[in-house]
Amino acid sequence: MADTHPTWLTDGFDHIWLPYTQMQDAPLPAPIARTQGCKLIMADGRELVDGVASWWTAAHGYNHPHIREAVIRQVETLPHVMLGGLAHEQAYTLASRLAKMAPGDLSRVFFSESGSVSVEIAMKMAVQYWINKGVTGRSRFVSFTGGYHGDTFATMSVCDPEEGMHSLFAGLLADQIITDLPVDAAKQDAFDAVLASRKDEIAAVVMEPLVQGAGGMIMHSPETLAFIRAACDRHGVLLILDEIFTGFGRTGTLFACEQADIVPDIMTLSKALTGGTLPLAATLARTHVFDAFLSDSAETALMHGPTYMGNAMGCAAANAALDLIERDPPGPHVARIEQQLRAELEAARALDGVVDVRVKGAIGVIELEPHADHDWMKAEFISRGVWIRPFNNIVYTTPPLVISAGDLSQITAAMVDVVSAWGTRKRKES
Ligand SMILES: Cc1ncc(COP(=O)(O)O)c(C=O)c1O
Repeated sequence: MADTHPTWLTDGFDHIWLPYTQMQDAPLPAPIARTQGCKLIMADGRELVDGVASWWTAAHGYNHPHIREAVIRQVETLPHVMLGGLAHEQAYTLASRLAKMAPGDLSRVFFSESGSVSVEIAMKMAVQYWINKGVTGRSRFVSFTGGYHGDTFATMSVCDPEEGMHSLFAGLLADQIITDLPVDAAKQDAFDAVLASRKDEIAAVVMEPLVQGAGGMIMHSPETLAFIRAACDRHGVLLILDEIFTGFGRTGTLFACEQADIVPDIMTLSKALTGGTLPLAATLARTHVFDAFLSDSAETALMHGPTYMGNAMGCAAANAALDLIERDPPGPHVARIEQQLRAELEAARALDGVVDVRVKGAIGVIELEPHADHDWMKAEFISRGVWIRPFNNIVYTTPPLVISAGDLSQITAAMVDVVSAWGTRKRKES
């Protein structure tokens, strides 16, 4: 097997530093030569049905001709110009379109290049909102156990304490208020009490609506989300919804917050924004948030400006991805995927070592007892012609939203089969 690996992989492996990886014993990753539709094509020609959509970005499948042509046109005419003092059509058009598409009056769009940075910007906006209003001391955030908002220092501080490595970086991370999602009456009372007693130090609540993705695909109801919005309103606290994972259809509606019929004060978007082609993110603010930055003084302006913000190729890709969403809204596709995931993953519930099976929109999850067999599982999936990347205790799929029923069945069959083989292996070992 090793001698079939391309030299770019074996040579480069001595130099690359991989994400979330103990490099001492890291296996070689699967070399991908091409992508097409919902498939990853390996360097040796094997095809994998993609069950992950490249960390949830490739909503329309890979190499979509409409997005590809938009990016090619853009690179030939204007790949990038700075947004400080210069304007280009793609960024301005995209801002108008996102403002129109987003719920309520989320009508101001600040661009950046990654999800983490868009959340940093949202947090900075929230803190400065209070400063600009002449209110002092409101710089803390409330977030939830199981949450994930990025890997930069401010975003780590609002992640789940364990996943966000709070003890490793103790003293470096801002001290936030991290509590349980108010999913039952006791937790609702506790959450309400936190806002009531500490609102004078809280800038905003920050959370992923309906599904906490990287924290383990943990799902909560629209009612819980609506409760949080109402509590924020009651206590005069801003609400930041991080729709980086859930945005653009993943949970069944264009934005997850629509299911609770609420509008956050600030919302972050990335991932499927460019259909998995180029890095781009956006932080959207409602009118009352934006208005707090208006004055006769330069001091109340938002002092932020990533070099590549509003990159023209990224914005062209995003405008093309929005065309696709407008022409063929994701809702019916996601409803079909959801139904199929529910039917086909159910078989896993009875298997050894399975703790839970859950589905929301185009997200299908098998939760297992704790284990460390992720690399073994990945290899098993590849041998079944599927790309699935298990993490922590979950085996999950978030396929492209255009996946065919046949390809999705290949994914779900592999998930059930690999989990079954893992259960048998575990039993033999014990
Ligand atoms: C909900 C959420 N917020 C923020 C991020 C961070 O985005 P990025 O990896 O682009 O910095 C992610 C990435 O998985 C995410 O799922």
